[in-house]
Amino acid sequence: MTIERNAEIPTWFGVGGGADLLARPSTAEELRRLLDEHARVRMLGDGANLLVGDEGVDGLVVSLERMARVIEVPDEPGVLCVEAGVNLPRLIVETARQGFAGLETLGGIPASIGGAVRMNAGGAFGQIADVVERVHIYDESRRERTLTRDEIAFDYRRSGLEQCVIAAAEVRLTPEDPAKVRERLKEVMEYKKKSQPMADKSAGCVFKNPVVDGERESAGRLIDKAGLKGLRVGGAEVSHVHANFIVTHPGCGAADVLILIEEIQRRVTDVHGIELETEVVIWRRGGGQ
Ligand code: EPU
Repeated sequence: MTIERNAEIPTWFGVGGGADLLARPSTAEELRRLLDEHARVRMLGDGANLLVGDEGVDGLVVSLERMARVIEVPDEPGVLCVEAGVNLPRLIVETARQGFAGLETLGGIPASIGGAVRMNAGGAFGQIADVVERVHIYDESRRERTLTRDEIAFDYRRSGLEQCVIAAAEVRLTPEDPAKVRERLKEVMEYKKKSQPMADKSAGCVFKNPVVDGERESAGRLIDKAGLKGLRVGGAEVSHVHANFIVTHPGCGAADVLILIEEIQRRVTDVHGIELETEVVIWRRGGGQ
């Protein structure tokens, strides 16, 4: 295990301050010890959906990037036990290559497995809840537990596990011709490349799609209709490709992104009478999520 002081927190936005303490445990015992010893722990996934304030964060940040094993569950063909630190895009490619269907709908979503389960990552083609069979967690009281899928309150971009530490998830995949799985993965990726600013620095969709007249409406469409593409605060800009993406330019600070988020919320409320809630997780010193 390594524990660093004043460590950089790698995020896809590429802005924001560091962690007073950043630990990278390699074993379940090391993780257990960290949870026993620190009252305030923030779990870092792939940093793909995270905005850290410029002032950085207090307490302990834990990255599970060294806990990244994938194990076939005995007597349950197609079920894999995936540690939280496993990189989702790599798992998608590997399982598709081996002829297992189920994860290809999540193509192009950057995440660790722990992060993806915590926020039920997904999009128009599916969500991770579709394949989760069980999760292994430390609950709010830091008790080790295994939850079956019917005990997990999955919803749109929610798992109910936000206060827990996810150590591993078991996913149930279906054997299929690898060529067919790869073909579907290609289609998902092509849709993304056409409709999202994949080459820019961003954290994906910033806001959750709100419920309008009983149905989810694209926050991107609402922001676009409000005329906000290209709106800029310092180095942060509403993407011209997909309006629910904020892209960051060199010199951008977290404060630029935070001010732009508030400005978008204000203007969307003015134009559409709808309040947008952030999907991006925001970490602030002394508070935040
Ligand atoms: N649209 C616009 N302008 C825009 C963006 C979208 O008019 O700037 C229109 C599109 O033309 C389309 C509709 O809105 O007709 C829906 O757009 P899209 O297919 O991109 O879906 P979305 O609801 O905006 C959701 C997820 C994405 C996911 C895509 C595709 C949320 C908040 N977003 O976006 O997830 O990639 O579906 O599966 O649920 C993410 O969560 O980070 C994310 C990017």
